[in-house]
Amino acid sequence: MVTLALYNLKGGVGKTAATINLAYLAAKEGYKTLVWDMDPQGSSSFYLGAESSVKNESKKLLNSEIGLLEAVQSTTYENLDIIPADLSARQADVLLSEMKQSKRKISTLLGSLKKDYDLVILDCPPGISILHDAIFFGADWIVMPNIPTTLSIRSFETVLNYFKENDLDASKLKCFFSMVDHRKNLHHEVMSTFYKDKYFFKSYIPYLSDVEKMGINEAPLETFAHSSYAAQCYRDLWKEISKTCIQ
Ligand SMILES: Nc1ncnc2c1ncn2[C@@H]1O[C@H](COP(=O)(O)OP(=O)(O)OP(=O)(O)O)[C@@H](O)[C@H]1O
Ligand SMILES: [Mg+2]
Repeated sequence: MVTLALYNLKGGVGKTAATINLAYLAAKEGYKTLVWDMDPQGSSSFYLGAESSVKNESKKLLNSEIGLLEAVQSTTYENLDIIPADLSARQADVLLSEMKQSKRKISTLLGSLKKDYDLVILDCPPGISILHDAIFFGADWIVMPNIPTTLSIRSFETVLNYFKENDLDASKLKCFFSMVDHRKNLHHEVMSTFYKDKYFFKSYIPYLSDVEKMGINEAPLETFAHSSYAAQCYRDLWKEISKTCIQ
């Protein structure tokens, strides 16, 4: 089983859109795939038509009152399951701060899924906190969408330094450019500078309105816009990610 955490310190960069489209493509290829929605906003849960069946489910998961497998819901897509989020996920940091070995908590919980899944994708809330420390420790790969702007790149550098300063394995960090706007020179300049960096995948996701339409369709791109350029870009990204992180 491989765990990818779709993460960025910064919000609104395309983490959830990537989670849903990559998870769908993995499941379509036959990987038993689980999306764990860790964000109290519950956007992944919304896109996959899931609802939290137990009140305070996220809190109960972290407290080990219920097991991860008990919280799993199937989706309408073959091979694709989800652990939905609810508002109690906002208490994750407080709960973890009261636990011994909090850094190992996500890793331990993920251990219980090994026999059931080939791939787990964590849709992370933005930020950098005790929960994120546990995610950084527990996930095999931290995949960061980055908009090629000065502030977004600055947040990537902050995360990279955080890994180095906190003895975290920086070789787990992988990035791709997200919401790329070809009309903007700045985007081209930032991309050509950072492509020299070993952390960045070559595939990127442009700014395209078809991605926004996932909200109207409440579904992965592939299911309603298979022939679109946006769907092709996610297929290319999935190919590169699966080659590097899974095979
Ligand atoms: N490539 C894209 N082109 C156009 N719109 C996009 C693209 N990627 C994401 N969006 C839109 O931008 C918004 C934010 O995207 P998304 O929810 O995937 O980001 P996020 O990083 O998960 O945000 P948050 O930090 O709030 O969880 C959404 O409305 C989404 O539809
Ligand atoms: Mg999100």
